Amino acid sequence: MVTTELFGLLMLTVSPASFFPYVQKKIKRHPIAESRFMISGSADNQLRLWNVANGKCLYTWEFPTAVKRVAFSEDDKQVVCITEQRMGHQCAIRVFNINRSGDGTKQSKEPDHMFNPIGSKANVCAFTAQPGVIVTGHESGKVALFNYKTGEEIDNNERAHGDVVTDLQMSPDRTYCITSSKDKSARIHDTKTLDVIKTFTTETPLNSAAIAPDKPYVLLGGGQEAMSVTTTSLRQGKFETRFWHKVFEEEVGRVKGHFGPINTIAVHPKGISYSSGGEDGFVRVHHYDDSYFKTEPYGDLQIDT
Ligand SMILES: *[C@@H]1O[C@H](CO)[C@@H](O)[C@H](O)[C@H]1NC(C)=O
Repeated sequence: MVTTELFGLLMLTVSPASFFPYVQKKIKRHPIAESRFMISGSADNQLRLWNVANGKCLYTWEFPTAVKRVAFSEDDKQVVCITEQRMGHQCAIRVFNINRSGDGTKQSKEPDHMFNPIGSKANVCAFTAQPGVIVTGHESGKVALFNYKTGEEIDNNERAHGDVVTDLQMSPDRTYCITSSKDKSARIHDTKTLDVIKTFTTETPLNSAAIAPDKPYVLLGGGQEAMSVTTTSLRQGKFETRFWHKVFEEEVGRVKGHFGPINTIAVHPKGISYSSGGEDGFVRVHHYDDSYFKTEPYGDLQIDT
């Protein structure tokens, strides 16, 4: 299921509690995710639903243009996807209801909701904690909130970033999110007000940003495009995942390994590991060592989480 070349148009999302059934037990107040499905969107214009237990494709939706982004709702009963603006087709956002009865192969072909976001093309999106509301990141650097039932833009921050928004990932409770941008920064936004709460400024264009669930860190990945950088031994492994302190906005560590820009980062919901996908064609799975867990992220200050 993993292609050798990972690039911006290929996004894999596993339903929220996938692999980790204990997440369901811990978070009782939330609707239950079943951990059964994965959704993928691709440059071949397809959206696909998969069974995570056996890797079987359960259903395929076809669109006129490439699928740029996919995301599950928290209860994995809904999927949102963005299709590209191209060849006379507008950028479209569709929300599908996922039929979880039976083996998952009986899905409705048509989306439950569909709209064309006004203005700058949407690149990334996710369901927020508010019912019926998604947050989007755009080519212009805009971050916006949309009512996906009406297509209405509820609110926006036109200057959230100075360049293309490349990634958008939610906090575990979906009350805030992190975006990364080609403007070399990542930002944390309140998903209700769109206020920028934190900014992390680096030296390279960023392709991905993730929020560590149990520690006050964010993980940033990116790198200068391949043009000026060759894969000679000198440069090898120079593309690092950067760990920043979420509260103090300071870099606290780097993990190297990739020899091309990092395209995507995903964190384990329990905070014990993370994965990164690179332009070099590798997916690297990293497990944290003891020191990661022993470090006091607030120094002598004791903070209960
Ligand atoms: C959902 O799946 C079940 C079982 O496969 C099927 O009987 C039902 O008709 C489906 N519902 C919809 C709305 O497609």
